[in-house]
Amino acid sequence: MTREVAIYLRTQTCTRKETSENDKKTTQETGEITKNCEKSLIIIKPDGVEKKVVGDIISRFERADLEIERIRVLEINKTIAYSHYSEHEGRPYFERLVNYMTSGPSIIMIIKGENAISKCRSIMGPTDPAKAPSGSIRGDHGSDITFNTIHGSDCAENAQREINIFFGNYL
Ligand code: CMP
Repeated sequence: MTREVAIYLRTQTCTRKETSENDKKTTQETGEITKNCEKSLIIIKPDGVEKKVVGDIISRFERADLEIERIRVLEINKTIAYSHYSEHEGRPYFERLVNYMTSGPSIIMIIKGENAISKCRSIMGPTDPAKAPSGSIRGDHGSDITFNTIHGSDCAENAQREINIFFGNYL
């Protein structure tokens, strides 16, 4: 019978599936090591919601053995958009980016799992959909380098910063 057990790594929790009654020991008992359990903050941007590709996008992460830890629907306001994209302030595309991100509801998720940050980025494809391969989220659904359907954290430090912006009140 399949069931899930929690594996505690530092302060983060990953899960693995058990396949038999004999496989019920905890990580500490078996000495098994789960490598690099990470969390990424993912945003399915307003164009992804508008195009009704939310289910398609989520299933791509699930098929890669990643888990959704938190999820919410949010109409991002200008204050949140400025905070989330503060490092892009002053760039020529910044106002268009903020207008896009505040144009309708987004889906905000914490996705977790082994090497979640790099795995998510690979599933998303490069920032510019024109350079993203077919089969990646941006390659299949993005319109241009700003309207690129999805955001994912680029490193652990930014993931924590972004998680605090969108889920700080919920953790
Ligand atoms: P995202 O991964 O959310 O991170 C920053 C966003 O800014 C990016 O996706 C794009 O939506 C946008 N962006 C990044 N670089 C450019 C660029 N050179 N021109 C226009 N938009 C950009």
